[in-house]
Amino acid sequence: LTQSPNPKLENDPKATGSLLYRPRRLRRTGALRRMVRETNLTANDLIYPLFVMEGEGQREEVPSMPDCFRFSLDLLLQEVKAVRELGIGAIALFPLIPPSQKDNAGTESYNPNGLIPRTIRAIKQAVPDLPVITDIALDPYSSEGHDGIVKDGIILNDETVAVLVKQALTHAEAGADFVAPSDMMDGRIGAIRNALDAEGWINVGILAYSAKYASAYYGPFRDALDSAPKFGDKKTYQMDAANAKEALKEVELDIAEGADIVMVKPALAYLDVIYRIKERTNLPVAAYNVSGEYAMVKAAAQQGWIDEGKVVLETLTSIKRAGADLILTYFAKDVAARLQASRN
Ligand code: PBG
Repeated sequence: LTQSPNPKLENDPKATGSLLYRPRRLRRTGALRRMVRETNLTANDLIYPLFVMEGEGQREEVPSMPDCFRFSLDLLLQEVKAVRELGIGAIALFPLIPPSQKDNAGTESYNPNGLIPRTIRAIKQAVPDLPVITDIALDPYSSEGHDGIVKDGIILNDETVAVLVKQALTHAEAGADFVAPSDMMDGRIGAIRNALDAEGWINVGILAYSAKYASAYYGPFRDALDSAPKFGDKKTYQMDAANAKEALKEVELDIAEGADIVMVKPALAYLDVIYRIKERTNLPVAAYNVSGEYAMVKAAAQQGWIDEGKVVLETLTSIKRAGADLILTYFAKDVAARLQASRN
């Protein structure tokens, strides 16, 4: 007789009592653990942020983001094809703009032949079915490194929204599936929705950076795009890290103004905010696992202090468990490749 793979074990009722529930039963083997797993990360949950720059045949590693590159458009297209093959849900584009093209009004942000519109068109030609999301904000184009127009040290709200609307229309015209306002100006979701509809772009969606915090975790991203503020900080428009109810208010406003997806950013230090938002809306909720979160994991892994692959899976799973349906992450390609390999 072959032994049962689930052998009968000696039980000592005196020592253990009779336990009705033994939660360890559900953890006994990998197959059982997979069977009762509540949260399964898949490649289509992931959105891959990509940095694009002018030039040809160029690829530059972002110093504070190991294994993460700025690509010229030709190389970006190769990257984008690989991303599609891996089943990643979408890409989010961010431009490196040369200083000579930056000004206080972010004029380059709505140039129809600018880097982002050209990139969108090329991607849509090469890989038409991969959803393309573009960032709406002035900071990569701003000589001041702010998300809006600066006057006397103040970031103007309504004047900035008027420029963001032009930027969103330019991206829609070029073929973006979603525009993602990350600027935190008041009223920009409604203004962009109205303008898109008025111009006939009724199917271009809005992924709203609704609860975007004034965070120290964005440092490496600002290195990647050379977009750090030239003075002050972003605390008069991005949210105070101490506030959660305010995030709910921002989400309510963005939904009322027409957002299709709402986002929390950063992710890891704000899992409670993701959870609260998910409890209150039936819209998809996204979370941005930002550059500083990426850099911390990479730095510790390079020291040999943590197992990068395992930490990344655990982290992204926790973000999904908290309530995020979609996760923007610089680890998307790595994780998708690993998920694909483990399925084969
Ligand atoms: C621009 C923008 C930022 C990020 C996404 N869009 C930087 C900022 O607000 O300063 C940060 C992303 C990251 O850190 O990975 N408005």
